[in-house]
Amino acid sequence: MRNDHIKTDLPGPKARAMIARDTEVISPSYPRDYPFVMSHGRGTEVWDVDGNRFLDFAAGIAVCATGHAHPRVVEAVQNAAGKFLHISSDYWHEEMVGLGERIARFAPMGEPAMSFLCQSGTEAVEGALKLARYVTRRPRFIGFLGGFHGRTMGSLSFTSSKYTQQLGFAPTMPGVTHVPYPNPYRPLFAGADQGQAVLDYIRLLFDRSVPATEVAAILVEPIQGEGGYLVPPEGFLAGVRSLCDEHGILLIFDEVQSGVGRTGKMFACEHWGVAPDIMTLAKGLGSGLPIGAVVAKRTLMSQWKRGAHGNTYGGNPISCAAANATIDLVAGGFAENANAVGAHFMQRLGELRKDFPCIGEVRGKGLMIGMELVEDDAARTPARKLCDALITRAWLNGLLLLPCGVSTIRFMPPLNVTTAQVDEAVGLLRGSLEEVLAAPVS
Ligand SMILES: Cc1ncc(COP(=O)(O)O)c(C=O)c1O
Repeated sequence: MRNDHIKTDLPGPKARAMIARDTEVISPSYPRDYPFVMSHGRGTEVWDVDGNRFLDFAAGIAVCATGHAHPRVVEAVQNAAGKFLHISSDYWHEEMVGLGERIARFAPMGEPAMSFLCQSGTEAVEGALKLARYVTRRPRFIGFLGGFHGRTMGSLSFTSSKYTQQLGFAPTMPGVTHVPYPNPYRPLFAGADQGQAVLDYIRLLFDRSVPATEVAAILVEPIQGEGGYLVPPEGFLAGVRSLCDEHGILLIFDEVQSGVGRTGKMFACEHWGVAPDIMTLAKGLGSGLPIGAVVAKRTLMSQWKRGAHGNTYGGNPISCAAANATIDLVAGGFAENANAVGAHFMQRLGELRKDFPCIGEVRGKGLMIGMELVEDDAARTPARKLCDALITRAWLNGLLLLPCGVSTIRFMPPLNVTTAQVDEAVGLLRGSLEEVLAAPVS
């Protein structure tokens, strides 16, 4: 496919040289899909070290919420860095308290909320699990198959979007029971309401093997991310909420990927009007600066005694400054943009689907959109190789994408992406699809 933005063979000579150095000294465990070597970025555009320009519809795995190097975020970071780089969470400062206030203002709990600040999604999940155990003094948890919550031992016990994440690391934390995440496109249960079927299954577990009185919390992504960008059926999250209320179980929403405007609302759970007791944030919160947060009802988090949980870098001023600027931008219009441009994007992908039977389904909310690829059959057989080939081909044509689930391409561009950029990306996607389908995938 001709593309004026791609000027060298890919990877280009400088990229190849960098990758050769990397191979000697950097862990091979990172699940890298194609050899893009970053030079710099602005908004939704990124350039590699050989001067090739790409549209970034992966946004650093849904992290660059405000696009690359947004001037207001850069300015906030520079200002904070000019004052001090670190003081530790043992002390107080404006950026940290200001972030707690901002999060509390938007928190979907329906009552006052508090935050524990950390550096990543996995730490936020660890903190949420610890808080749930601490306040309930119950040992067990329910998680969902296909869920992704991080890779440290507690969060890893729930992570199950690919078996390779757990392979070689057992035993993980005991007390975690997985149940299926409802997937109407690939139903596991009989009947039309997959959400209700999962709720019934949890009730069955409570009757037979997992005493509800021992369950501290149910941990669930309001839209399942790494597991395939699955949007739950209507009524499912409300049903989980009722189940929790019935049994004194805490509800933890992992909004690490879906939060901070990604779905067109500040938090994905707001699409269904269901409030968690505890919520985890990271990724988009800092526009790329490392930050995570455990957000909980004040009635819960205030029970943590001094020293019960802590860290060195929590509330780091640079990350907090980035997060404060990010929240202001997201609340000031980027979430709305995600909603409007996301609707346009869904429509464009819907049109593409009419021309390509291998696109089985397009689903999502805002700018958290999944495109499921299938073999050309009625059984909706996942087209894994096609998915991999398309992602590589799109990169060669100047579009950065990432997969999720079994054979889903996920689109998670910056929240300030324009309709013109979406149209350009859809054009690149169409051309890439034509190319991979013309050359049979082995
Ligand atoms: C929903 C969810 N939770 C937690 C995590 C873990 O975040 P991190 O990679 O920052 O540890 C991720 C990362 O993809 C995620 O998508």
